[in-house]
Amino acid sequence: MASSDQDGVIQDPLHQPQPEELSTDKAQLRRPSWYAEMRQEQPVRYDEERNRWDVFRYEDVNAILRDHETYTTTFGNTTEGKSMFTEDPPEHGRLRNFASNWFSPRTLREKRPRFEEIADELIDEIEPGNVDIISEFAHPYPVTIIAESLGLPIEDYEQFIEWSDASLRVPPRTDDDEMATPEEQETAIREMSQYFSELVHERADGDGSDLITIAATNDDLSHKEKVTFCHGILVAGNVTTINLITNALWCFEEFDLIDDIRSGAIDRKQAIEEVLRYRSPAQSLVRRTTQPVEIGGKEIRKGELVTAWTGSANHDPATFDAPEEFRPERKPNRHISFGGGIHICLGAPLARLEADIALERLLDRFEVVEPDLSDLSPQATPFGLQSLPCYLEK
Ligand code: HEM
Repeated sequence: MASSDQDGVIQDPLHQPQPEELSTDKAQLRRPSWYAEMRQEQPVRYDEERNRWDVFRYEDVNAILRDHETYTTTFGNTTEGKSMFTEDPPEHGRLRNFASNWFSPRTLREKRPRFEEIADELIDEIEPGNVDIISEFAHPYPVTIIAESLGLPIEDYEQFIEWSDASLRVPPRTDDDEMATPEEQETAIREMSQYFSELVHERADGDGSDLITIAATNDDLSHKEKVTFCHGILVAGNVTTINLITNALWCFEEFDLIDDIRSGAIDRKQAIEEVLRYRSPAQSLVRRTTQPVEIGGKEIRKGELVTAWTGSANHDPATFDAPEEFRPERKPNRHISFGGGIHICLGAPLARLEADIALERLLDRFEVVEPDLSDLSPQATPFGLQSLPCYLEK
């Protein structure tokens, strides 16, 4: 989910400029109706404020994601090491394929017991009663899994979480914490890159199975590319997964499904797919045109930025029956919440596994799980909530 802007500075992919129409909390919560209006009235439009095109229909969004020759993720030279997010083939394959095996569902299956343990250890620490389920669980759980997957020494976890929150400008974990300022964000990114850089050097001859060693021992990558890979994993896999777990609890409570999910009357994995469709953490992806192109009857010049609204595509009635209904048993469910084409999410099997375990353990360990949806605090991108009060009883 990374991109960079036209003059080559890597932009924070999680904070792409948002259109005026989504500028309030109320508007965030009414996204589906805005998307419906746009698909109907302006399925392809130019937004002067943000200097980019917006595309809303499933067919068009899907076509954009699958055509990397016309719609590239390269945005100019950067001073950072090259990253799979912002390269076309053949560089893209060189920067991605070496890690594919680690992310395969087969490799990940072996990790399930350890991930369950991580979830259980966090749950052991939760005092039942009224809690913010994000700061108590949905946040530390995926960050711990990423720290462990990168093979970070356990004594560095706290520091890593601090850098990670500041670098991604994750909302405060407690009322006392402030969201990082842009300066603090920059410092965190610099310090974390330095930290990754040292670990990459240390593990150059390592034989571990962690992601840092896998990058460090790969002769096809430069040192900078190895460091950028580690940072990219964190950027792509942290807030998105926090939000998937949160959005699942939000949907299950709103549609009164918690007991059925717990009992197995509703298939949990299938329901998670519907959460991905209905309230996807990634609502939009950015591309740049490499040639003049016509889409939805509009002429787009070469070199223009195009926002492909996957969040809108996932609610397009031309592709989904009754898209505004949350149907946990929906099958097939052709959502494009993990993107499509060559940049399709490398971490999708991990995200699915993490969400499955998180929901299984929470609903298994607590007899009552009651999110309070009375005063929601939406977060624009990746789409989710800043906090989710929840009543828990064992
Ligand atoms: C629910 C959680 C997640 C969502 C919704 C999500 C979504 C996405 C999307 C939409 C893309 C495509 C970006 C584009 O086309 O420009 C992407 C790419 C990527 N994601 Fe995820 N992601 C999630 C979790 C993860 C996790 C857990 C990891 C790894 C730890 C991860 C690693 C990546 C990587 C490396 C790419 C770049 C692939 C490439 O450019 O070839 N993601 N993700």
